[in-house]
Amino acid sequence: MKLTLVLTVISCYFLLCSECIRADGDGDVYQVGLGMADITGPVAEVNFMGYAKIGQDGSGIHLRLYSRAFYIQDSNGSCVLYINCDIQSIDQLVRKMVLNKLSETYGKKFDESNVMIAATHTHSGPGGYLQYLLFTILSRGFNKQSTDAVVDGIVESVHRAHANIIPSKLLLTQGQVKDASVNRSPASYLLNPPEERAKYSSDVDTTMYLVKFIDANNMKLRAIISWFPVHPVSMNNTNTLVSSDNKGLASLIVEHVMNNMTEIHGPSNSFIASFSNMNAGDVSPNTRGPRCIDTGEPCDYVTSTCSDGKSAKCIAFGPGRNMEESTYIIAEKQASKALELIHDSSHDVAIAGPVSHVHEYVDMSSQSWYDPVHKTNFTTCPHALGYSFAAGTTDGPGAFDFFQGQRNSTTLWNVFRNFLGKPDQQMIECHYPKPILLATGRIRIPYAWAPSILPTQVIRIGQLVLVGIPGEPTTMAGRRIVKAVTEAVESVTSTRQASDITVIPHGYVNGYSDYIATYEEYQLQRYEGANTAYGPRTLDAYMRQFAKLARGVFTDTRDIPFGPEPPFMLKQQISWYTDVILDRHPILKKFGQVIEQPHVNYTLGETVVAQFVGAHPNNNILPTYLSVEKLSPEDATWKLVATDASFNTKFHWKRDSTILALSTVTIEFTPNEEGVYRINYFGTSRSLIGKLTNFTGRTRQFTVTEN
Ligand SMILES: *[C@@H]1O[C@H](CO)[C@@H](O)[C@H](O)[C@H]1NC(C)=O
Ligand SMILES: *[C@@H]1O[C@H](CO)[C@@H](O)[C@H](O)[C@H]1NC(C)=O
Ligand SMILES: *[C@@H]1O[C@H](CO)[C@@H](O)[C@H](O)[C@H]1NC(C)=O
Ligand SMILES: *[C@@H]1O[C@H](CO)[C@@H](O)[C@H](O)[C@H]1NC(C)=O
Ligand SMILES: *[C@@H]1O[C@H](CO)[C@@H](O)[C@H](O)[C@H]1NC(C)=O
Ligand SMILES: *[C@@H]1O[C@H](CO)[C@@H](O)[C@H](O)[C@H]1NC(C)=O
Ligand SMILES: *[C@@H]1O[C@H](CO)[C@@H](O)[C@H](O)[C@H]1NC(C)=O
Repeated sequence: MKLTLVLTVISCYFLLCSECIRADGDGDVYQVGLGMADITGPVAEVNFMGYAKIGQDGSGIHLRLYSRAFYIQDSNGSCVLYINCDIQSIDQLVRKMVLNKLSETYGKKFDESNVMIAATHTHSGPGGYLQYLLFTILSRGFNKQSTDAVVDGIVESVHRAHANIIPSKLLLTQGQVKDASVNRSPASYLLNPPEERAKYSSDVDTTMYLVKFIDANNMKLRAIISWFPVHPVSMNNTNTLVSSDNKGLASLIVEHVMNNMTEIHGPSNSFIASFSNMNAGDVSPNTRGPRCIDTGEPCDYVTSTCSDGKSAKCIAFGPGRNMEESTYIIAEKQASKALELIHDSSHDVAIAGPVSHVHEYVDMSSQSWYDPVHKTNFTTCPHALGYSFAAGTTDGPGAFDFFQGQRNSTTLWNVFRNFLGKPDQQMIECHYPKPILLATGRIRIPYAWAPSILPTQVIRIGQLVLVGIPGEPTTMAGRRIVKAVTEAVESVTSTRQASDITVIPHGYVNGYSDYIATYEEYQLQRYEGANTAYGPRTLDAYMRQFAKLARGVFTDTRDIPFGPEPPFMLKQQISWYTDVILDRHPILKKFGQVIEQPHVNYTLGETVVAQFVGAHPNNNILPTYLSVEKLSPEDATWKLVATDASFNTKFHWKRDSTILALSTVTIEFTPNEEGVYRINYFGTSRSLIGKLTNFTGRTRQFTVTEN
């Protein structure tokens, strides 16, 4: 992979960019603060949140996870915090803990209404930080280290943002990102009405929206936020190295270019680039699509099964030769579009108008209203997942004999289901045609498995309207929410003002409640429909709710009630995680000792590998477990060139023997430049009585030449 070349070309082209900002137009001046902090947490032996795959536990780190915070305040003092995290999702537990901590420093300044916490939805980060059992049961329950890392990191990013507030201009632009996404349930999408589909050229949304934050004093670009819908599942369910996937890597690439850094690694507290998600429920980055891995034949279009009638062998692949290359390609497509939009000011619209925000908690399990179009009452249902939930997706198929599009139940699985929590007839009918596999809304042992009360939020920054959706809307679901919001704004303002606004259907925000498919998509019961947890009218309920919030945010925000307070279940959490008990080293060796030295000489393109006597990384959550240093030819000193956050390093930890408590660390480093280097490993070992001891290991030096 010619990573350096690509980046050099991009860098040379874009370095001139801070001069090319054309910030004319009227635009208001806002007070803007930016901050970024690490949220990585425990990198070993914690199950990854996303694929719900038992055994997909962390074993090291490729790319670190970050929180990126944006403080935005208008001239009247009304402010919002927009935070985007490299994480699968955010729920009530983390959100409440963050708000509680913020109130210790900022009093009543921040609350549910003006803080929006979004997740990129990476599937390669440690889990155990969600409060409902459904989302942690496969990952051995609650994980305190993971939760604390996320909460403390988010709060730190806000402190940093709050410490550098300066007058700024905001510019809004957009462009098309091609060949970075495909619809992974096209059979469901095709069930949407033809006249509705005819309005769109594709079964995925390819528009990237981008906001530029410009220092009003010197007109230099300080940061961007981009929105583009795609699942960060370029790293597949065999990956066990922590990774921010295509979204996080896109951020790192743009930050690297804009900060003139030589290597891709963070965090940077100068230029910040957020790559946020949208309506990505049915959007895959695996652009080569699915095929049966045993025969190479296409999978069944409707059920995603292969000749054995099961889904396990139907897997989608990305554009690269392996998952890392695919991650890079999908990241680079997003990053280069963002850099192009940064450079091209011709479509910039200067943002003007107030910052305002509304928020309401709603009980999504029991909404009901009269629908004048269908002349009937619509209701939502208690949380439940269909049989196809267990089939997984072509981005990460499930186990057992489930398939997508399963509309019949089986006696055997129904016995299992009823054992956990039995749905009554009304609930079964409410979810029809979904056959209920897990009546999650009914399971309360030992505490609630799934949410009923969810946060809904709309934030307005001038013409920009962020619709905070606590789940994963599909492409068409997102479009319908945009339509409902736009019509609502039109009903309370003017058509002209409504046509000026840009509405972002922002999925993965504030809470997590699985998928939101359209009523028509739901009928087929593929994965997204089976996971539309509150029944066939889930989307309709959200459309009504966001229309109401949109009217509120454009008229009087005091019209919106607080709603029912969701439970905060930190105290109830259960966990099957065991603490690290002990680390030992082999006889006659010590912790950090090099077991395998790098070669003496390498040529560019080769990967350097070194092995050390290791200890459990979770003993001490370090900002980096490794450093690569380069000998400076000028002054003969060692300079830091890479950490475990760098794209060209990998940190692997392996328990060789649980009984003997021995472990090995392997560090990989692929140099981008010629030079003389050495690698350091940082660790902390634990004795039987719990004493922690820090240590470091260092390789001999090695030389990298052109050829
Ligand atoms: C990057 O380099 C360019 C050109 O030398 C300079 O204008 C810009 O300020 C630099 N940016 C940062 C963040 O150092
Ligand atoms: C994951 O990606 C690797 C290539 O990096 C590939 O060999 C493997 O088959 C993929 N597995 C799944 C389940 O997607
Ligand atoms: C600030 O408040 C004044 C008076 O209510 C209003 O006219 C003006 O539009 C507001 N400005 C912004 C940016 O909200
Ligand atoms: C809708 O619900 C209301 C209130 O529960 C009820 O009075 C009405 O009869 C229902 N309408 C229909 C068409 O079912
Ligand atoms: C579901 O069951 C019905 C009748 O029992 C049968 O006709 C149909 O083929 C089944 N559908 C699937 C997808 O298995
Ligand atoms: C490494 O390269 C240097 C000069 O390029 C050479 O003198 C030396 O023999 C090489 N060492 C090995 C072990 O290949
Ligand atoms: C070990 O390292 C951690 C993190 O760098 C530090 O907080 C701690 O004080 C160190 N412990 C000792 C005994 O030096």
